[in-house]
Amino acid sequence: TLDLLLCAINSSLMVTQSRVDYKLLVVTVATKDTDGFRRFLRSAKLFNYTVLGRGEKWRGGDYMSAPGGGQKVRLLKAALEDMKDEDKIILFIDSYDVVFASSPKELLKKFQQAKHKVVFSSETLIWPDRHLGDKHPHVREGNRFLGSGGFIGYLSNVKELVSDWTGEDSDSDQLFFTKIYIDPANRKSINITLDSKCRLFQNLHGALDEVVLKFEDSHVRARNVLYDTLPVIIHGNGPTKLQLNYLGNYIPNTWTFETGCTVCNEDLRPLTSEYPLVVIGIFIRQPTPFVTVFFERLLKLQYPKNRLKLIIFNQEPHHESHVSSFLRDHGSLYQDVRVFSPEEEMKEAASRNLAFDMCRKDHDCEYFFSIDIEVVLKNENTLKILIEQNLPIVAPMITRVGRLWSNFWGALSAEGYYARSEDYVDIVQGRRVGVWNVPYVTNVYLVKASLLRSDLKEYELFDSHILDPDMAYCHNARNKGIFMFVTNMQTFGRILSTENYQTKHLHNDLWQIFENPLDWEERYIHENYTHIEKNKLIETPCPDVYWFPIFTDVACNHMVEEMENFGQWSGGANVDTRIQGGYENVPTIDIHMNQINFEREWHKFLLEYIAPITEKMFPGYYTKCSTPLNFVVRYKPDEQPLLEPHHDASTFTINIALNSKDIDYQGGGCRFLRYDCAVEAPRKGWALMHPGRLTHYHEGLPTTSGVRYIAVSFVDP
Ligand SMILES: *[C@@H]1O[C@H](CO)[C@@H](O)[C@H](O)[C@H]1NC(C)=O
Ligand SMILES: *[C@@H]1O[C@H](CO)[C@@H](O)[C@H](O)[C@H]1NC(C)=O
Ligand SMILES: *[C@@H]1O[C@H](CO)[C@@H](O)[C@H](O)[C@H]1NC(C)=O
Repeated sequence: TLDLLLCAINSSLMVTQSRVDYKLLVVTVATKDTDGFRRFLRSAKLFNYTVLGRGEKWRGGDYMSAPGGGQKVRLLKAALEDMKDEDKIILFIDSYDVVFASSPKELLKKFQQAKHKVVFSSETLIWPDRHLGDKHPHVREGNRFLGSGGFIGYLSNVKELVSDWTGEDSDSDQLFFTKIYIDPANRKSINITLDSKCRLFQNLHGALDEVVLKFEDSHVRARNVLYDTLPVIIHGNGPTKLQLNYLGNYIPNTWTFETGCTVCNEDLRPLTSEYPLVVIGIFIRQPTPFVTVFFERLLKLQYPKNRLKLIIFNQEPHHESHVSSFLRDHGSLYQDVRVFSPEEEMKEAASRNLAFDMCRKDHDCEYFFSIDIEVVLKNENTLKILIEQNLPIVAPMITRVGRLWSNFWGALSAEGYYARSEDYVDIVQGRRVGVWNVPYVTNVYLVKASLLRSDLKEYELFDSHILDPDMAYCHNARNKGIFMFVTNMQTFGRILSTENYQTKHLHNDLWQIFENPLDWEERYIHENYTHIEKNKLIETPCPDVYWFPIFTDVACNHMVEEMENFGQWSGGANVDTRIQGGYENVPTIDIHMNQINFEREWHKFLLEYIAPITEKMFPGYYTKCSTPLNFVVRYKPDEQPLLEPHHDASTFTINIALNSKDIDYQGGGCRFLRYDCAVEAPRKGWALMHPGRLTHYHEGLPTTSGVRYIAVSFVDP
């Protein structure tokens, strides 16, 4: 222990000197270079409190806790001994949980205005000895009790203040200073007063309701609304550390209303040619839609693949084929790949612990990037952007479409669970933009490997009897004073809903139009569909026949494969019932959407993507796409090559080509007899839309080789 204390004396007594007024010395004791300490230094720098001596003799030290109260007094006393200049003004403050909110000039002015030689911060609550309450002098307005977390005074008076210190390092500094203050003789001779109205110091403990953020032009100040003051130093003492993290998002950062918060992250690390090695941990914990798309995006991530190692933890047998086909096709591009399959029966916490540890023990690993399979990472530069932030733990903000759900919490409840912060909605909806210090991140985040080898070196970070694995991990990080950030400076993506995901079909993603409509659209709706009006993409190959792109290639393939997988193609047997039903006049070889339980989804598709076009092309006609007949038709030379001329028993008909002429088949097409006009080269993924009864008597032209598929809907109002 002696070594430790000596180290603390030599290395961690920080003395800072103001450029504005060379008489001010800021003294703080720090035994470890924590995130909180770095924040303190950043705020000091921003307001031009010059920092001297930092880093020169820093030896780190392994101890986690803040220095004991008594230790601080002892170190201060020792440091002051050699100082001579009696005009010097000493500011003694904590640092891990302190930020400056204004300049030394303002601090000194307010100190002069207090008209005393030593000014202590004040508290609403008394501790550690409640019995001393009555002994405190009454104050006309403001807090009555002394807080030892911050005081300012002339050198000689401060020397006098600490001269009698003989206590142990673990003794309470708060009690020591309180006893001096409540003694009238000492109070008078040292000339001590309290900053009762928080003009200089704001201790947050017991005062959270008094402090609000005041947004003004390009700055934010914390304001005490009870006393109408703007404190210079904000102290998140006791249990209010997390609130300081929240306030620290705004102070001392510069704020502009138009563009959001411009966070002063001076530690940005631009990526040039040297790409640090990143281990990516991918976690599959439940059946999830669009897993193939996840891997397509992973492949598109802008980062040299030889600087990436993948560890895939798959708990889901349903996804084994997706994982193995991705690895078969692309696994060799990566520097290394490890897979843990469902047979290993690894629980979530165990897999996350192991993933961290694999990075920890891999000397090449510089970052660990954790991503859950349900994350839709749209921004291909995410990894680069996060690395450049150069923060201990940083998450890209992702949200659930149309909801306030996101992958971070703005605040924490007293019980350690979710609480909504004042700015949560603004951040999620992008009205406030920045890099935010938050108490909880999940689903996707980047961690510095150096952190895993130092402060987070315990193996079982994700284990807890009561908390979920991610909550346990964040709890551990918070307890160690490690800051977690979420950035919404760019848009990064979203998160899928994994509810109502069926796994009984061949292409289960086709059924996701309700649960994940945006992802369904990106996967299955033709990229030019949304531009068809603007770019006049709707063609009119024959009178009142409209032709437009609607499906992606993938959609066409999935539809065909799904139908062939089902396989129960029906022919003439159904003809009679259909005629009785008044719908289909001519039999086809087909499978109906309801046979594969796709009726609801198809109806939704018609409403969302077809009805708007119908209403555009046939003005005054509105459709609910009700009672339609929906099916996929197969044309084959030796089965059913063509369809005789007929009317469709519909108000209008949609006919979508599901494969490609000349590639998949020869012949085919559709001829409208009344106009003697044919569409002979159907395009894969394009829809033909034409009126049904009366005018558009038509025939299906013969398919001469191969197999042709079309999806057909007979739509009535
Ligand atoms: C700090 O100093 C810089 C350069 O001397 C000056 O531009 C800036 O306004 C100062 N900041 C404050 C808060 O006084
Ligand atoms: C404290 O010092 C100020 C001058 O800075 C003086 O006016 C005041 O009377 C002193 N108070 C006490 C109680 O000595
Ligand atoms: C979409 O339209 C553009 C411009 O007309 C074209 O170059 C592109 O190939 C189209 N996309 C597809 C998938 O057909």
